[in-house]
Amino acid sequence: MNVMVIGSGAREHAFVSKLYGSKNINNIFTVPGNAGTTKLSQNLSIDANDYDAVSNAIKENEVGLVLVGPEIPLINGITDFLKSDLDLRNLLVVGPSLKGAMLEGSKDFSKEFMMRHNIPTAPYRVFTNKNLKEGLKYLSSIKPPYVLKADGPAAGKGVLIIDKLAKAQNELTNILLNNKFGTSGNKVVIEGFLKGIELSYFVLVDGKDYLILPNAKDYKRIGEGDTGLNTGGMGSVSPVPFVDKEFENKIENKIVIPTINGIIKDKLDYVGFLFIGLIKVGNEPYVIEYNVRMGDPETQVVLPRIKNDFLDLMVSTSQGKLKEKSLELDEMTYTNVVLASSGYPESYEKGKVIEGIEGVLDSSVLHAGTINKNGQVLTNGGRVLSIVSKSKNISGALKKSYDSIQKVHFEGKTYRKDIGFDL
Ligand code: AMP
Ligand code: GLY
Repeated sequence: MNVMVIGSGAREHAFVSKLYGSKNINNIFTVPGNAGTTKLSQNLSIDANDYDAVSNAIKENEVGLVLVGPEIPLINGITDFLKSDLDLRNLLVVGPSLKGAMLEGSKDFSKEFMMRHNIPTAPYRVFTNKNLKEGLKYLSSIKPPYVLKADGPAAGKGVLIIDKLAKAQNELTNILLNNKFGTSGNKVVIEGFLKGIELSYFVLVDGKDYLILPNAKDYKRIGEGDTGLNTGGMGSVSPVPFVDKEFENKIENKIVIPTINGIIKDKLDYVGFLFIGLIKVGNEPYVIEYNVRMGDPETQVVLPRIKNDFLDLMVSTSQGKLKEKSLELDEMTYTNVVLASSGYPESYEKGKVIEGIEGVLDSSVLHAGTINKNGQVLTNGGRVLSIVSKSKNISGALKKSYDSIQKVHFEGKTYRKDIGFDL
């Protein structure tokens, strides 16, 4: 079978690597891909949000299955678009419908979903420019820190956690009146602050049945000790040691099962990966958010732990046959340390020559913001490479990742030296 992977990050490089090792894989196409995916697949320089171009490429290349990596094409309805094309009747798609993607596309929608289906989450209120005054008053009635969330997608920047009331009120005004997040900020969810430790939980959903995938921990801040600005993610670890069998059962019974039942009841037509951002408060799991895709940098440590044939798993998902599947797991610990460009997540330069990747023997190097030019690999984004290693324990895997990092060079190479510090 020919497969198309949509996206250009290290998450998509991980998908392509995994598919490459599948039994019945023929050709892989990545839209648009990066300097890493081009070694294992054919990169197509198409804009993933240009659905006509995507569907033409699917037809031209006789693609049988499409795996959508990032959320934006899903939130904009790529799955519905492809499924409505009569010439693509037999196409298999891993990625939820427009309706299902609302679980990530609108915080208001996802909070209502959680309330309706009794899924543990922080209490909340929703405000628009019409009841801004009420919102300002509401803020003064609750305790800090204040959690403000733009309703729509905001590239990971739409959540503000603020200690001072005046600043929180100022930001609420900025979002609702001054369009700080554009139309994504037409509504703001204000929710209670949950204190605890976060983890990323992943579920493969075939519309009615599900398979729980390995969990992971992500390090979102740019600075050591979880300080500084939020990024797309600077490192990850799988499995998460504080998730024992008992906590795992709680997550499945209190969160996963009610979520799947809600998806069925609300007819969300959900086929694909579901990422549940959780926080462990005391010994109880709460949902912080749903994402309708895999996480990045978590995918890079989750996928290598799955021993099943990956294409077979994707086909079963898109055909509604997950009930027949069980997961075979690699019990080793995987770590990922992300190399970023200097200045990220704010402004940074591109086009720096990357050297030394071929000298890395103890880790796998997954590409994100990279491009091939004149026989060289150049930086082409904020997050550049993921350095993934495995060992019997976290410290062993991290040692390999950090040793491997010393072999890779580019001007401005930036990384966190404390991934896993809290585990
Ligand atoms: P999100 O984009 O919803 O994942 O939020 C970004 C980050 O904000 C999360 O990873 C958490 O660290 C933090 N966060 C979001 N909601 C809450 C909350 N209710 N309580 C505490 N922290 C939160
Ligand atoms: N690692 C967080 C995300 O993918 O959104």
